[in-house]
Amino acid sequence: MTDGLRIKDLSVTFQLRDRDVRAVDGVSVHFPAGQITGIIGESGCGKSVLGMAVLGLLPPYAKAAGSITLDGSPLLGTRRALGVKLGLIPQNPAESLNPARTVQAHLSEALRPLSLSRREAKAWSAQLLRDFGFPDPARVLKAYPHELSGGMQQRVLCAVGSACTPAWLLADEPTKGLDSALRDQVLDTLGSMRGRGVASMLVITHDLTLARSLCQSLAVMYAGQVLEMGQGVLEHPLHPYTAAFLNALPEHGFQPIQGIAPRAGQRLPGCPFAPRCPHCRERCTRERPGACQPESQHMVRCFLYE
Ligand SMILES: Nc1ncnc2c1ncn2[C@@H]1O[C@H](COP(=O)(O)OP(=O)(O)OP(=O)(O)O)[C@@H](O)[C@H]1O
Ligand code: SF4
Ligand SMILES: [Mg+2]
Repeated sequence: MTDGLRIKDLSVTFQLRDRDVRAVDGVSVHFPAGQITGIIGESGCGKSVLGMAVLGLLPPYAKAAGSITLDGSPLLGTRRALGVKLGLIPQNPAESLNPARTVQAHLSEALRPLSLSRREAKAWSAQLLRDFGFPDPARVLKAYPHELSGGMQQRVLCAVGSACTPAWLLADEPTKGLDSALRDQVLDTLGSMRGRGVASMLVITHDLTLARSLCQSLAVMYAGQVLEMGQGVLEHPLHPYTAAFLNALPEHGFQPIQGIAPRAGQRLPGCPFAPRCPHCRERCTRERPGACQPESQHMVRCFLYE
């Protein structure tokens, strides 16, 4: 069964000493299998927390409610699928690799669910590195992270994340901080993952050029919610927030979004964009808009489309 990844009414709250921070707020979304879906939105809108909830990697002081299923099997609160069905390319290569462990040690650990012999694990690790553009895997397997360039570290993480050929891969800001040559290399690598059996991907990114060239569909997050999702989001945004977000980019004339961005974890009873929306009506401040589908393959949460 390849129903894909279904998230229903997911909320994640961090219970801090002095207050609760609601980082994901009632997200319901379906990521179909066989697609690369991008997740975009400003810093702090909840992209990584949503990803960590899917992977079962939330810290113990995070309280999650709702449901997440992968091909019909419940995922929320478990790490059962991690590495086997779901792989992760984490946000920061330098921080995600253990400086005291070799590349081989990282790959052997990632391959543990496959219960391979040492010899098999070594051969498979070398093959993975070859797949990710290392012509000399024997040397790289013995290397420590500090002996590798940023682009090489990123490719090692791609190999680690896809070691068990998971059907799904989450890549969190895979091109952040990379120069344009490395960025292109990572883009090629991600594109080639699909040829290696990783059929579906979620790619969290600020890089809209990457989103445009790699993703078939995009989800737009704001204040812990997914406000718009589908195909053609960048070419034909429906939600007033998406339109404002795109207009604020340098290539569209740097028009700042009016009003103030929501505080971390701030919850409003109505539409989260209401205080900044030029189309806001009274109803928007007290009621949350449900999902509308004004176009095929394109969902938006805004009363303008009811
Ligand atoms: N471990 C944590 N403990 C407490 N609060 C957290 C934790 N992780 C994230 N948050 C809070 O949850 C909210 C969403 O954070 P998240 O990391 O998902 O943002 P993001 O959209 O990935 O941003 P960025 O683009 O900067 O990576 C933020 O307000 C953040 O401060
Ligand atoms: S629901 Fe209302 S406030 Fe929210 S984006 Fe639509 S028009 Fe604006
Ligand atoms: Mg993040």
